[in-house]
Amino acid sequence: MNTTTQRYTITAALPYTNGPIHIGHLAGVYVPADIYARFLRMQGNDVAFVCGSDEHGVAIPMKAKKEGISPQQLIDKYHAIIKQSFVDFGVSFDNYSRTSAKIHQETASGIFSKLYKDGKFIEETTQQLYDAEADQFLADRFVTGTCPKCGNEEAYGDQCESCGSSLNATDLINPKSAISGAVPTMKETRHWFLPLDQYEDWLKEWILVGHKKDWKVNVYGQVKSWIDEGLKPRAVTRDLDWGIPVPVEGAEGKVLYVWFDAPIGYISSTKEWAEREGKNWEDYWKAKDTKLVHFIGKDNIVFHCIIFPIILKAEGSYILPENVPANEFLNLEGKKLSTSKNWAVWLHEYLEDFPGQQDVLRYVLTANAPETKDNDFTWKDFQARNNNELVAVFGNFINRVVVLTDKYYEGEVPSPGVYSEVDEQTLATLRAYPAVIASSIQKYRFREAQGELMNLARLGNKYLADEEPWKVIKTDEERVKTVMYVALQIASALATLSEPFLPFTSAKLKKILNMEQESVASPGKEATLWDEISTKEGLLLSGHKIGKAELLFSKIEDEQIQEQLEKLEVTKAANEAENKRMEPQKETATFEDFSKMDLRTGTIVEATKMPKANKLLVLKIDTGLDIRTIVSGIAESFKPEEIIGKKVTVLVNLAPRKLRGVESQGMILMTEDAQGKLVFLNPDTNGVENGTVIS
Ligand code: 2FM
Ligand code: ZN
Repeated sequence: MNTTTQRYTITAALPYTNGPIHIGHLAGVYVPADIYARFLRMQGNDVAFVCGSDEHGVAIPMKAKKEGISPQQLIDKYHAIIKQSFVDFGVSFDNYSRTSAKIHQETASGIFSKLYKDGKFIEETTQQLYDAEADQFLADRFVTGTCPKCGNEEAYGDQCESCGSSLNATDLINPKSAISGAVPTMKETRHWFLPLDQYEDWLKEWILVGHKKDWKVNVYGQVKSWIDEGLKPRAVTRDLDWGIPVPVEGAEGKVLYVWFDAPIGYISSTKEWAEREGKNWEDYWKAKDTKLVHFIGKDNIVFHCIIFPIILKAEGSYILPENVPANEFLNLEGKKLSTSKNWAVWLHEYLEDFPGQQDVLRYVLTANAPETKDNDFTWKDFQARNNNELVAVFGNFINRVVVLTDKYYEGEVPSPGVYSEVDEQTLATLRAYPAVIASSIQKYRFREAQGELMNLARLGNKYLADEEPWKVIKTDEERVKTVMYVALQIASALATLSEPFLPFTSAKLKKILNMEQESVASPGKEATLWDEISTKEGLLLSGHKIGKAELLFSKIEDEQIQEQLEKLEVTKAANEAENKRMEPQKETATFEDFSKMDLRTGTIVEATKMPKANKLLVLKIDTGLDIRTIVSGIAESFKPEEIIGKKVTVLVNLAPRKLRGVESQGMILMTEDAQGKLVFLNPDTNGVENGTVIS
């Protein structure tokens, strides 16, 4: 019996309103968060499950420009589409807000002002990257360059998506403006910094000691490595005109950093909900006995495990997350999902092609959830899981139970006779399922939990197949009553236990079984339907009338899958054509500019992998002048052993720079072949000695 209820605040990452949402978002964040929230509510807990649109990212004005509309029009458009997708897929937020809402502007400004007044920021005038052409400072997504940690050449000014590092724009090597392509200059500007370094000891105690055991290994590992590398003060304001104005005198033209305001969106969304429902929002954010859980993707770990907790800690009156069960990424047909490359299954498009089949997608995404490693979504797997599991196991069992009950008893649950040993065992196994599924959900192992739900359906199928009521009915009508009674109990348990995972199916099944009046638990209610499966003598009592059979799932045909694969082929072809488009010629370089570059022929004499960097090779090059070290981001294209002895073109007078602690003294010139594969730019140098000048 469930006598203790707990208050939970569950948050799901606020999606950027610069595009619709796709299966990666659903798999990584929203389905697991929804399973968790629904489960907790069914247990009688007091739950606030909140989310909203993240409308201040620098990507928003950039995307609006691309679409030829204003940022406001852009956020309105995608906010509506995203919100609808959540409703369509049964993501049961108690509130879905947006960061352009007044309540959010007030909340974020309020927290900033409090930290400012309490002297928690460092105010500093520093040199920042500046695009003179666009007359704009370059931070975050406005600037790209090489990640100093892993060598990824497409890292952003705030983060490298390749290694997950959180960066400051000035950390980037070879920075380039994302607005004009120009090489930035430096310009002075004043900003407010959160001194993350001052919280290092506290973070170590809170996470590295306090949460070593209960946080997911991937989350704990990332956090630990950041802390081990040492934290630096981080600017929480920006020189931009899109965002929440910095509420400090003399800060005109500056806004709050999007990652300062976005997580505060969880708080404002809770306030909006509490106001509407007549609740006290502070109970959900300040009461020590409330459990706060953030559902996010792995690229958001640093913000939710380091920066946001530091903001909350510095403010002083808030609780901290109990857990941050971040997921890894989902790929699509072997390739990284990408909004800009349209490599995605968009939720609104899925519904057009598979109307009414939301639960199938929820099911497949959970069955294949990227909980501990990146996983792949393939349409063939989608079809197989639907046809072989949902249709053949779950749907088939329910259909047989309902059809036979209708046929033999006109839909009335029969009275059981004496239970056989198999009946007893089956009922005992059934009674164990709620605890088994609950235990996996409580550990954030949703795939495992859903797997157990399917095992229960398998138990039902096996029971019917072994007991063969359709045969026994000819010889022993009394025995069939018992068999059907037991099978109906399993069907009823499935209707309840499937609710967190397959909410539409659960509702349909409850309607078929005429269980609708037995509504979900409310906070504080002593026994819940979930628990009653283990404790109550009968879930569907003799004499209870059930309805007619309806198909819960239907077979997905090869042609439907083919259609989806063809859609992806079209996208692939379009992307390839786009990639092949030549880059425009760069600005004119004077002869003097060019002659500054000292290009020479050289030979690779040694090549080794850079430890803990997927993309980097450490090369020793015979330049004719010397044997020198050059770190090159080519490890994904070449094995060290296959390039030793290669003739290469080397820029020998490039200013040395450190990559992962190794000083790189030059650059190897590369180009790409027609397939986009890297190749060395080694003109026919037979007989040309190393060190010969190329001009
Ligand atoms: O990565 C993203 O899509 C961000 N918009 C997530 C924000 S989560 C939160 F902090 F608001
Ligand atoms: Zn990196």
